[in-house]
Amino acid sequence: MAHETASAPSTSAPIIEIKGVTKIFGSDVRAVDNVSLEVERGEFFALLGPSGCGKTTLLRMLAGFETPTTGSLIIDGQDMAEVQANKRPVNMVFQSYAVFPHMTVAQNVGYGLKIDRLPRKEIKDRVKEALELVKLDGLGERMPDELSGGQRQRVALARALIKRPSVLLLDEPLSALDAKLREAMQLELVRLQKTVGITFVIVTHDQAEALSMANRIAVMENGVVRQIASPAELYEQPASRFVGDFIGQINLFDGTASAAGEGRVKVTAGPFTDVILEGTATGNVCLAVRPEKVTISTSRPSGSNLIAASGTVTDIAYYGGFSNVFVDIGSGEPVLAEITNSARGVSSQYSQGDTAWVSWRPEDTLLFDE
Ligand SMILES: Nc1ncnc2c1ncn2[C@@H]1O[C@H](COP(=O)(O)OP(=O)(O)OP(=O)(O)O)[C@@H](O)[C@H]1O
Ligand SMILES: [Mg+2]
Repeated sequence: MAHETASAPSTSAPIIEIKGVTKIFGSDVRAVDNVSLEVERGEFFALLGPSGCGKTTLLRMLAGFETPTTGSLIIDGQDMAEVQANKRPVNMVFQSYAVFPHMTVAQNVGYGLKIDRLPRKEIKDRVKEALELVKLDGLGERMPDELSGGQRQRVALARALIKRPSVLLLDEPLSALDAKLREAMQLELVRLQKTVGITFVIVTHDQAEALSMANRIAVMENGVVRQIASPAELYEQPASRFVGDFIGQINLFDGTASAAGEGRVKVTAGPFTDVILEGTATGNVCLAVRPEKVTISTSRPSGSNLIAASGTVTDIAYYGGFSNVFVDIGSGEPVLAEITNSARGVSSQYSQGDTAWVSWRPEDTLLFDE
């Protein structure tokens, strides 16, 4: 079943088409709810969302370990309805690395090809190639318990890649690793995906991981896809309060808006009154701004047309390159301003209890109609 990507049709059709797929477990658990999306050839695509939102279920349906209740899945131009898991042009890397403890690294990596009864010489060559790909060259004779967590995860990756699938499905592949190793492996995976040119679909509930690795992300909530976009678009133009809140940090102010003509609205939220913004949302709205867009000053900011309010500094958290300054402006949660420490002592001019102004530009404001 070795599926050669080299011989895959070089069409521009999406490699994965998910059409109106729903998965209901038992009589009422709607794990995946009418999801439609396409993944292009060669993409590094992420499924991102909170625990229980249906990410794994969607991935398992692609792999053939679950059957959709309704809807269809097309991979590489072929409807998967009648195609068994082991005949699909995909391979899956699981969260728990699942390497065989009684086999050497090389035996683990070559296992799938041995099952396929490939000639011993070819298995040997391809194992060598796969180990080089994941930077484990020379470790083929080691046993899994002689490897670090990151190295064991590379064995699992090599074992999936050696079959040359059209699509590699990765379910939280780095979640068992500590933060430092995880970050290194994120870069490794991106490099690897570029090298092999295989389409990667990765599941994660870690938004920073999705932002740093994927070229497109589908954000899921309760089985539903809420937005599909590039990392930058998700961050700068979230389509809803849910997405804005789930991706990165954000300051939210509940308020109301009324039409002000010419594609503008007049918004009042917390201490901000009659703010004119571009937008169409009226009624109950939510005004939002990312923390790095917020400027902090000791006196009223002088720029024209800024959205500004004064308050009291409640907390300062120093992170080296930047500091988070929290200012209570009497609107519920304190406003978070992320200050770059581009000159020494930038944030140390503020202390708890100080009066400070927060401000930002209208064009950096987001408006959600919920
Ligand atoms: N075999 C099953 N039988 C019944 N319910 C299931 C089954 N598998 C998953 N579910 C339910 O479907 C929903 C989605 O589960 P899924 O594992 O896809 O979520 P997830 O997004 O991968 O979450 P996590 O981030 O925690 O791994 C959950 O409510 C879960 O309890
Ligand atoms: Mg899961």
